[in-house]
Amino acid sequence: MRTAPRAEAWAPGRCTLAGEHVDYAGGVVVCAALDLGVGVVVRPSHDGVFRAVSGERRAERAGAEPRGDIGDRIFAAVIALRDAGIDVPALEVEVQATLPEAAGLASSAAVTCATMAAALRLCGRTLATRAFIDTALHGERDIAGVPCGPLDPAAIVGSPGAAVLRLDCETLATRALRWPWDNVTLCVCATSERHDVGGAAYRARRAETEEALRAAGARTAKDLVEDDSNLAALPPLLQRRARHVTTETRRALAAAEALGRGDAAALGRVMSESHASLRDDHEVSTGLLDAVAAAAESCSGCLGARLVGAGFGGSVIALVRRDAAGACASAMAAAAGRGCRTWLVTPSPGLADTARDCISDG
Ligand code: GLA
Repeated sequence: MRTAPRAEAWAPGRCTLAGEHVDYAGGVVVCAALDLGVGVVVRPSHDGVFRAVSGERRAERAGAEPRGDIGDRIFAAVIALRDAGIDVPALEVEVQATLPEAAGLASSAAVTCATMAAALRLCGRTLATRAFIDTALHGERDIAGVPCGPLDPAAIVGSPGAAVLRLDCETLATRALRWPWDNVTLCVCATSERHDVGGAAYRARRAETEEALRAAGARTAKDLVEDDSNLAALPPLLQRRARHVTTETRRALAAAEALGRGDAAALGRVMSESHASLRDDHEVSTGLLDAVAAAAESCSGCLGARLVGAGFGGSVIALVRRDAAGACASAMAAAAGRGCRTWLVTPSPGLADTARDCISDG
């Protein structure tokens, strides 16, 4: 097979409005791709060694175990594509990102997805949307070894342009929800507290949630939304985890309805309730994230705020009236302290929209 001498791709990050830590429990998420993302340029490696360069950082590997550096995602993307039957050579990859790393905005999945899209272009191949998402998840989970759910690749690939995505994480069925407001926007503050989705705390939450579902006799969070009568009998820790995935899935359904009716106040309330549940029941917040969310909520014009992504550090997202967005961003930054960054973000199209030459419908 002939490969092109080089290829490029860009993948967006994602934010979640409601439905955090429910994807691995088959719950429902309301999320969006961001106008922050990761760009890659790929070339075939001349000597079969994978190389990644991102700013000052360099990584190299011929194969074998993940090492916790930027090379993991590059390697995982190529091996996952090979497992999907696409004969990708070893690559040299340059990464340039506007998306902050380890900030709860899916930068790792964006690197995987951008590398996959560029590698497909290099080889002149396409994957169907669902196969692309499954392959990215295979790379992240089985090759890079991160015990994540399907949220990040599904949002990065499937988000509709200028709209929000309602994602059923059991079936991966999606629905586009129009962003109904000109005068309401999203403000993200990435704190300098880095989160680690491959770390022990995320792994533990996932295992506890799975145990809680089993103990409650439920397959998914959606089952518990239908009938949560078994929760009261669970031991306290499992009860908190099960309560989070149940109420958070209800909140995602409520967020979708609020978007449908154009009820910004209701969406904001759901977001703040989501933060409280992530803090109290799922126990994935930190003092800093709580302080940044509270600082946002104390601004007039802020409708709600919550941590975004896996937690244990990372970012806070606020729903805010456009005329109050600057003041809200400043308040969040003041609470987050040194090393933080803030952005006003807009729901943006996912890769299935922007990379139609290598991701086909279906
Ligand atoms: C990380 C994981 C996702 C999801 C979120 C929390 O981003 O990669 O699969 O679990 O955390 O909602």
